[in-house]
Amino acid sequence: MLQIVYISTATGTVDTAAILTTSRRNNARDGLTGLLYTNGKRFLQVLEGDIANVERALGRIDADPRHRAMVVLSSRDVNAREFGGWAMAERVAGDDGDAFVARVRALVAQASPSVRATFDGFVQLHRAA
Ligand SMILES: Cc1cc2nc3c(=O)[nH]c(=O)nc-3n(C[C@H](O)[C@H](O)[C@H](O)COP(=O)(O)O)c2cc1C
Repeated sequence: MLQIVYISTATGTVDTAAILTTSRRNNARDGLTGLLYTNGKRFLQVLEGDIANVERALGRIDADPRHRAMVVLSSRDVNAREFGGWAMAERVAGDDGDAFVARVRALVAQASPSVRATFDGFVQLHRAA
């Protein structure tokens, strides 16, 4: 099973609810699991599943004009899923920083140390953004 992690930058004001709806539908159909983190400006996503399905989804996502500058941080074989379902963590204005960090930590608790560290660093970096 392939697991990829990427970061990207929103091109404008993104309707995250719309992304979540589409992703839930498609990812359930394609057997993909993962997590999408956003603070409205940046995205950090993990996607995992069969190689062909992950690559197909990544191709669609990369072509999406709602974000740009996608950089794949990690792409590796995993024996088992580290994310049981499909989830999205959204940092909204007024969110308490500590509570949000704790929420994201809980979502990545089952992931490998490197994935946990990636999310942790990213969330800390963007907590005030
Ligand atoms: C940051 C970001 C993350 C996305 N994540 C997913 C995803 O996990 N799965 C998915 O199918 N589409 C995702 N999308 C949406 C795709 O880019 C694309 O719009 C969608 O797959 C098209 O699906 P449709 O042909 O069913 O309308 C994401 C888009 C953005 C901007």
